[in-house]
Order: sequence, then structure tokens, then C-alpha cells
Amino acid sequence: MCKLVIEGGRPLQGTIDIQGAKNAALPVLAACVLCESPCVIHNCPGLLDVDASCKILKHLGCRVKKEKGTVTVDPTNVAECSIPDALMREMRSSIVFLGAIAARLGQARISFPGGCELGPRPIDLHLAALRKLGLVINEGHGFLDCHCTGRLHGETIALSFPSVGATENILLAAVTAEGLTTIINAAREPEIADLASFLNRCGAKIRGAGESVVEIEGVDALHGSEHRVIPDRIVATTYMTAAAVTGGELELRGVQHTHLSPVVPVFLEAGCAIRADKENLFLRAAHSLHPLRCVRTMPYPGFPTDAQAPVMAMSTLAEGNSLFVENIFENRYKHVPELVRMGASIKLEGKVAVVEGVRALFGAPVVAADLRGGAALVVAGLAAEGTTEVTGLHHIDRGYTSIEQDLASVGARIRRVSSAE
Ligand code: EPZ
Repeated sequence: MCKLVIEGGRPLQGTIDIQGAKNAALPVLAACVLCESPCVIHNCPGLLDVDASCKILKHLGCRVKKEKGTVTVDPTNVAECSIPDALMREMRSSIVFLGAIAARLGQARISFPGGCELGPRPIDLHLAALRKLGLVINEGHGFLDCHCTGRLHGETIALSFPSVGATENILLAAVTAEGLTTIINAAREPEIADLASFLNRCGAKIRGAGESVVEIEGVDALHGSEHRVIPDRIVATTYMTAAAVTGGELELRGVQHTHLSPVVPVFLEAGCAIRADKENLFLRAAHSLHPLRCVRTMPYPGFPTDAQAPVMAMSTLAEGNSLFVENIFENRYKHVPELVRMGASIKLEGKVAVVEGVRALFGAPVVAADLRGGAALVVAGLAAEGTTEVTGLHHIDRGYTSIEQDLASVGARIRRVSSAE
């Protein structure tokens, strides 16, 4: 077991290269199952979830090679249609393998996925959509036994909620289905458009990805191709909060600043100065942080739920009260009691959190309970007076390639040590 030891109070200053997006890399790796020749995926972040995806790909019969940020997948001999429970439980996005395996092999046997405990993570929208495309799904004893006679067939699917995962599963199942599939109320996250651009490079015919209505014209087969994963907008946002809360200034390199449009207004409201060019974003902290009138998490292009925790950590030191409304997940405030342990003043009422700015936070031993909540504790530790120790790092390592190296490179006093120390 390891922990991060953080000595707070140092303004961050310098440049950080932003890693590839976890939530783009994972569905793109799953999509390789659909291809009948090798794929080369660049800018894959070195994360536990990427490792888990590679383990699933190997289990299915793919040859997988990882060299730094490039993952080469040869899916020529995919033959296995099941994913063991232990592998399924390692992450949430294992569920998007379902659409890909079923489309490629005509059958699939998986258990329910794992991932952050952000409240119940149902997959009803995934299953209803796949059933509509012709997949027969028998649920029982924690497993899903799926098969289809012949090819899946195109349909019009209206999602009651623009679920990211369900949209990805439909894309993966529909690209080689018979006929046209139309998704209404599709998720519009940039990771959806990235998945579609990879699939189209493999020969798929997808139109409108990134918009609410997406059309997929089924093709007979997909070939492999090369792809570079988009940068991680949530990691970028996390580092923006770290600069803002420590009174520093950071240049983030390799970002797609259009993907940050939903969060930039919040940093401007907090009083930060932001400048962006094609691939870089520069943030200078406010002299004193202004409170945030109301941060409501919404599907893209609304404010991202994944940014709620780090931005809340920043707001704990604002001069006044900030309001958060978490509309996407039922249980995404597990970082709050840990922030309170550091001296933050936060009141929770259902999906609403009221953050009363305090003069200072104080270092304390805190425990990460999920990925972005853990990152928020690191951000708070950077600003706190004294030493903060963060455990539960397996959560953080699922989404941040090298959080302590990145932050130390711009002046943070942060190190990873064994918990025994
Ligand atoms: C993806 O999760 C991301 N994960 C999440 O990022 C992100 O928070 C989320 O999208 C929203 O942007 C990956 O891409 C691997 P959803 P996903 O389906 O697909 C409900 C991180 O920190 N829902 O859009 O699981 C669901 O319960 C992670 O990187 C159903 O009710 O999100 C939730 O309330 C955390 N039925 C809401 O929709 C379903 O069948 C959003 O879920 C599916 C979802």
C-alpha cells in the first residue's frame, strides 16, 4: 500500500503535458475487437484501466503489445466471447466490450461491470438498446448470456438519458449491423466523437457523432487502422484547479481547448485569467478566489460531473459561498467528509452542496473513495497548511498516469511513499 505525502502552500508554476484521455482510450481499445486486422492506438495513457482493457483483449484472443503510449492490438484471431467476472469488475467501461464482442462473434457472456461506486451504475439503457438491435440477452446469477442469430440489425434508438457508455455500446454494436441505426439523444462528449473517428478510419460509416442524433450505416467488416487518442479534458481541469488553489500559474500543453469550454467559465468566475491557443492553455490564479454562484453538472457540453470534485476543492478557499448541484450521479460527494477533515466548510443536502469558503485548509490524513474525489484531495493538499497524506491511491491511478510526477514538475512538494513510512 502506498500513500501520497503532500506539503502544501507552494504556488504551482510551469508546464505540464496532458495525457491521453482515459475515457476515449477505453472504448477505442474495445472497438479493436471489431477489426479483422491490426490496430495501432497512440497516446494511450498508462493507467490501471488501460491495463485492464489490454487484459480483456488478450483474454478474447487478441495479440496486444504496449510500448510507452502506443498499444498495438491484433484482433485477427478473436475467438473467445466471454469475459471473466474478475476482469469485468476491474472497471466500469468493461461493459462496452459487450457490443463489440456480440457484433464480432454473435455471442457474449459477461458479468456486470465494476468501476467507481458513484451510486448504482445501472446498465439498463445499454441492454435495452442492444436488445433492440437484435441481441438476445439472458440475465441470471450476475451474468449476461447473449447471442444473436445472424447479424444484428439497424434500428432507431431513443435514449431516455444521453448515457456515454450506452452511446458507445450502440456505436460498437451497430457499425457492422444490417442497415441503418439512428441514435436519438446520444451522448455528445468528445470521447464519443473520438471513438467514431477511429471507427470511421476502420471503414465504419458514422455520421453526426458528437451531436444528439447519430446515424450509423452498417458495413460488412472493419479493418484495423491507426489512431491518436484525444487529450484528457478532466486531467487538464484537475491541474487547472491545482494552479488556481495554490495561487500559481500553469501552462497545459497538448489540450484541445474546445473540450474545456464547459469548465473555462467557472475558472473565469473564480477570478482566474485564462489564455488558450491551438493546443495549449495557460491559467493564472486569481489573487483571491471568488465563489462560484452555481455549478450544475450536466451531460456535455454542460459542466462535466468528473470535474465537480476538483473544482469543489478549489472553491473551499474562495471568499464566499459556492453552490454545487450534482445531477449525474447519486453518490458523488464522498470527497466532502475528507475535505471537511482538512478544515473545509461544506454542507450537503441531497444533490446540493454548499461550500462556505474558509481562510485556510490544514493538512490531514485523508482517504480517496473514488477516482475524481481522490484527485480533489490531492488538490486540497497542495493548498493546505502542513502535511496531507492521501491513501486509496488505486482509485487515483485508474485515471491519472503520473499525478505526483506531473505536480512535482511544477513545484509541488508531493511524493509517493509506502504507507508503512
Ligand atoms: C462515463 O461513465 C465516464 N466513464 C464517467 O467518468 C463519466 O462520469 C460519465 O460517463 C458521465 O460523463 C467512462 O467513460 C469509462 P453514463 P458512464 O452512462 O458511461 C445513468 C471518470 O471519473 N445510467 O453517462 O458510466 C448512470 O447511473 C468516470 O472518469 C443509467 O441509468 O456514464 C448515471 O447516473 C466516472 N442507465 C448517468 O446515467 C444506464 O444504462 C450517467 O451515466 C447507463 C447510465
